[in-house]
Amino acid sequence: MMGFMKFHKLFIWIVFLLSLSSCYSQFTPADSYSIDCGSPTNTSVGNRVFLSDNLASSYLTTQQNVLVDTSANSIPQSEYSQLYRTARIFSQTSSYSFKINQPGRHWIRLFFYPFSASNYDLKTAKFSVSTRDHSLLSDYSTVNSTVKEYSVNVTDSELEITFTPSGGSFAFLNGLEVVSVPDPLIADEAASVTPPTNFRGLLTQALETVARVNMGGPTVTSRNDSLWRSWVPDRGYLKNPSLASNVSKVDSVRYPKGGATEDDAPRSVYGTAARMASDGDPKSNFNVTWEFPVDRGFRYMIRLHFCDIVSDALNELYFNVYVQESNVLPDFDLSIKVGGLALAYYQDFVTQSLNTDTIKISIGPSNVNNALPNAILNGVEIMKMNNSDGSLSGGDIPASSKHSKSKVGLIVGVVVGLIVAVVLIVVLFFVHKRRKEERLNQSKIWIPLSTNGISQTMGSKYSNGTTISAGSNFNYRCPFAAIQEATNNFDESWVIGIGGFGKVYKGVLSDGTKVAVKRGNPKSQQGLAEFQTEIEMLSQFRHRHLVSLIGYCDEKSEMILIYEYMENGTLKSHLYGSNYPSMSWKQRLEICIGAARGLHYLHTGYSKAVIHRDVKSANILLDENLMAKVADFGLSKTGPEIDQTHVSTAVKGSFGYLDPEYFRRQQLTEKSDVYSFGVVLFEVLCARPVIDPSLPREKVNLAEWAMKWQKSGQLEQIIDVTLKGKIRPDSLRKFGETAEKCLSDFGVDRPSMGDVLWNLEYVLQLQEAVLPNDPDENSTNVIGELSPQIHDFHTGGEENTNTGIGQFEMSSGDDISGVSMSKVFSQLVKSEGR
Ligand SMILES: *[C@@H]1O[C@H](CO)[C@@H](O)[C@H](O)[C@H]1NC(C)=O
Ligand SMILES: *[C@@H]1O[C@H](CO)[C@@H](O)[C@H](O)[C@H]1NC(C)=O
Ligand SMILES: *[C@@H]1O[C@H](CO)[C@@H](O)[C@H](O)[C@H]1NC(C)=O
Ligand SMILES: *[C@@H]1O[C@H](CO)[C@@H](O)[C@H](O)[C@H]1NC(C)=O
Ligand SMILES: *[C@@H]1O[C@H](CO)[C@@H](O)[C@H](O)[C@H]1NC(C)=O
Ligand SMILES: *[C@@H]1O[C@H](CO)[C@@H](O)[C@H](O)[C@H]1NC(C)=O
Ligand SMILES: *[C@@H]1O[C@H](CO)[C@@H](O)[C@H](O)[C@H]1NC(C)=O
Repeated sequence: MMGFMKFHKLFIWIVFLLSLSSCYSQFTPADSYSIDCGSPTNTSVGNRVFLSDNLASSYLTTQQNVLVDTSANSIPQSEYSQLYRTARIFSQTSSYSFKINQPGRHWIRLFFYPFSASNYDLKTAKFSVSTRDHSLLSDYSTVNSTVKEYSVNVTDSELEITFTPSGGSFAFLNGLEVVSVPDPLIADEAASVTPPTNFRGLLTQALETVARVNMGGPTVTSRNDSLWRSWVPDRGYLKNPSLASNVSKVDSVRYPKGGATEDDAPRSVYGTAARMASDGDPKSNFNVTWEFPVDRGFRYMIRLHFCDIVSDALNELYFNVYVQESNVLPDFDLSIKVGGLALAYYQDFVTQSLNTDTIKISIGPSNVNNALPNAILNGVEIMKMNNSDGSLSGGDIPASSKHSKSKVGLIVGVVVGLIVAVVLIVVLFFVHKRRKEERLNQSKIWIPLSTNGISQTMGSKYSNGTTISAGSNFNYRCPFAAIQEATNNFDESWVIGIGGFGKVYKGVLSDGTKVAVKRGNPKSQQGLAEFQTEIEMLSQFRHRHLVSLIGYCDEKSEMILIYEYMENGTLKSHLYGSNYPSMSWKQRLEICIGAARGLHYLHTGYSKAVIHRDVKSANILLDENLMAKVADFGLSKTGPEIDQTHVSTAVKGSFGYLDPEYFRRQQLTEKSDVYSFGVVLFEVLCARPVIDPSLPREKVNLAEWAMKWQKSGQLEQIIDVTLKGKIRPDSLRKFGETAEKCLSDFGVDRPSMGDVLWNLEYVLQLQEAVLPNDPDENSTNVIGELSPQIHDFHTGGEENTNTGIGQFEMSSGDDISGVSMSKVFSQLVKSEGR
């Protein structure tokens, strides 16, 4: 019975999906006219039939013309060769007229091949072509086979295309096509290449296709395009072909729900791309540039097609896209746009009226998130827009193109596409359902939590008892509506960060509590795994130095996490690239100590070690008192079981922080976090990005560069200038040694997080003990009092960590609220001194 019910449900699903996908992917043009001019017979191009305008003469409204044909062997090879055998010649103004069943945008395609026939050399023809509203060509002549494609919004019940010979010459035409364009293909609005305002009014524009290019792939003929468009390869447009390489992964391409469709560009376009030929070299810093010849004096609509077929994981690829000199997509992250890999996406831009003869499009690396330098582009369409006279004519660009289409091919394609889509959607449906069930189970984890200290934390933090009432019935699951309200309906201006998983918004709960709301892209399957990991991790781990989760929401396939708000943002932003005041050495050490404490707890505070996997300064957050908390557990993995020594897993993490051993051997241990933390230590000391491609080669990678100076004993040469002269030499020396050990090539040579913690405490003591401006302290005494202990930590630390740390934590209380270890120490010292 259950089985039947399930099957029944499945069947309904399939029928539903079939009806959905059929109305979605099967565009049937309301108007479709294909004409073979001057031909005595109908002509098949692929499986599309071009009617003879001799037989179907009703389209031609004037009769003063002649037919010509040519010998077959001179015709250029093209998908439209068949049309090029014959032409119609007009010695006087003549028109074709088509009844328009449904007003709206229509393609007009004109096919020209200027052959020489008995009395005519078509290369000498010169003529103009226009519709009632738009001039398409004026004083046009051509020496090569050419397809001109326009798309115009026809509002009348009739479309008339008129050919006018220029004085004393004649006009000719080999083929003509008028076909409805699906309405969604061109939207009314597009981003402006020169912001701030968007361009509105595309719906009424007449457009001429100037270039339609398939990056990194072959010619795609009209047969492979649902709207009978042709795409040419990009090689000829590349300014420096050696800087680009091809990628092809056609089978992986997917079309997102509500996003780009097969009608926007076929799989064969989205499935190939040109990418930076950077060969994984982190120092690569160049643009890949294409140049397209255009007519000056016109505005152009540019459509850029993207599909991330190069990444192995979300948020690996960040790049810049330039049109002319404008960075139109700064730090572009496709993962955020579409929430998945290999998903089709396009974006439109409109230029100003051009005063150059070329449109330059470039892609290049962005330096956010220390991503590996890479950039991709899958396709480009450039459309000339009519000028204020409604005209598109003016200088002619040789457009290399061809065309065709087959009904059988179309039907087969649609059917196969449908079956694939149905299977895919059914599979996705079940995967989703299963995940949902898993998620439901997981939510149970939350209930005991409310007794587990969070209510106290919350209570003391937001003294108002009515706040979020973490104690009684709030089981961390938040209604979506409440989150919407808290974030002003996900107001873009409230975005405080863009993380690996989605955007982070600032939010204010109804009681005034500030929160950070991280909203995962609901389409992202990858994101779902990270979402679950994060909830799972944060529900098991509670620590003063780990950022706390306040709630989550999984309504309507949303993936939203609500955290305590960290007033002071990321550690990274305090080090460089923002307007925060420079932090003192002591502040920096306390932050490092806090973060080390959080990580140490992750590694040891639970029966199985947890490896964070993405330790970096951007994942260390600071609260209003600059207390450090480690965040972003989306990539965390439970560490090795007792009997194993590593977890084998796909390499994830952030470039510049990655443990080389993990990278080489794909084996993950806690020591990978230690390595990353060592990089953070140097970052804190030098206040510069871990990868800075703008610097000379030897300085690009902070870890390498700092290690060089550390090993030569001259670390003070490269420290943050604002710290110059403010760090005690002993403190700096110890700090350098600690960071150096963290960066050992082999995990076994690196200290544990506990050792690192010890050493940093010691570094702070070395700095603090002799601070001259504390009148209460007698520095010699302090040193004297402390030295035996320090000696213990220092030497005992590396050999005998576990016991050492355990005692330390018990005696000094790792969770003493709001009191940093240095304060504990100095209080200890003071009370002993009195
Ligand atoms: C050409 O095609 C039209 C429309 O399909 C048809 O009516 C006509 O009979 C065909 N002519 C020939 C000669 O095949
Ligand atoms: C015409 O085609 C020939 C050969 O393909 C090419 O060399 C020439 O540049 C083309 N001329 C124009 C005006 O496009
Ligand atoms: C055509 O233009 C009219 C306005 O003139 C507009 O309302 C309509 O939406 C346009 N249609 C398309 C398909 O662009
Ligand atoms: C990239 O693909 C195009 C079209 O398939 C081809 O002409 C070109 O040679 C390829 N380039 C490289 C570097 O492989
Ligand atoms: C065009 O489609 C056919 C099947 O319809 C396929 O075999 C071929 O590889 C496609 N060509 C390109 C360039 O995608
Ligand atoms: C890439 O091109 C843009 C726009 O022309 C330019 O501003 C930028 O400096 C270039 N980047 C590189 C690395 O050449
Ligand atoms: C293009 O022509 C339309 C009228 O058909 C006009 O409204 C529009 O302003 C023109 N576009 C430009 C850029 O001048």
